[in-house]
Amino acid sequence: MDGKLLAAGERQCSDRWSVIGKVLSEGPISVLDLGCAEGYFVSRAAQEYGCFTLGVDADVRRLTVAQELTVINKTDGAGFMYANISPEFLRKLPSFDVVIFLAVLHHIMYEHGVDYAREYMKCIRNKTRKALVFEMGQSNEAAMDWARLLPDMGANPHDWIMEFLRSCGFSQVTKAGETDAYQSNARRGVFVAHP
Ligand SMILES: C[S@@+](CC[C@H](N)C(=O)[O-])C[C@H]1O[C@@H](n2cnc3c(N)ncnc32)[C@H](O)[C@@H]1O
Repeated sequence: MDGKLLAAGERQCSDRWSVIGKVLSEGPISVLDLGCAEGYFVSRAAQEYGCFTLGVDADVRRLTVAQELTVINKTDGAGFMYANISPEFLRKLPSFDVVIFLAVLHHIMYEHGVDYAREYMKCIRNKTRKALVFEMGQSNEAAMDWARLLPDMGANPHDWIMEFLRSCGFSQVTKAGETDAYQSNARRGVFVAHP
């Protein structure tokens, strides 16, 4: 996934992993990845930092790959759960030291609106003990049809997203890095926030 030759529509993981790694080096024990796909970050958190890690996703094929790889590689302490991540589901979850939520919220925001997305993020905040690592699609990703459905994030989408996270109750919101976007020269911000 981190090779230089990425197929169209794929993204690098290394920029985001370096932000996650810094957060994990501060000693959290439990990690939740919401929308974990094939479990790349879940596996690395377990393998490299010995965290108790749970990945959640509703894509059966991606989750099956994640689960199989974890067993084949005997990754200690990593597990996966099938679920539709909704406010109802989030309310049932226990709390985790670190929550990873990458490249999912823009889909929720353009489908259900900003107010719904804010309530959704408040549910995530309630389950975050120490830190959230967050990234989302931005309105300046002009090649993507969904970008037009997002609120206009203005000339500086990273500032818009940080303000949005504060409006969800997160504090000490910082931009900890940048990463690539799908089929676009736009750079996504990678944010760390505290509950
Ligand atoms: C664009 S991918 C991002 C994957 C990974 N977080 C990353 O950044 O590399 C979005 C993932 O979130 C999952 N997803 C989106 N909405 C979801 C929901 N409501 N419940 C469960 N999984 C969801 C999708 O199945 C997909 O695997």
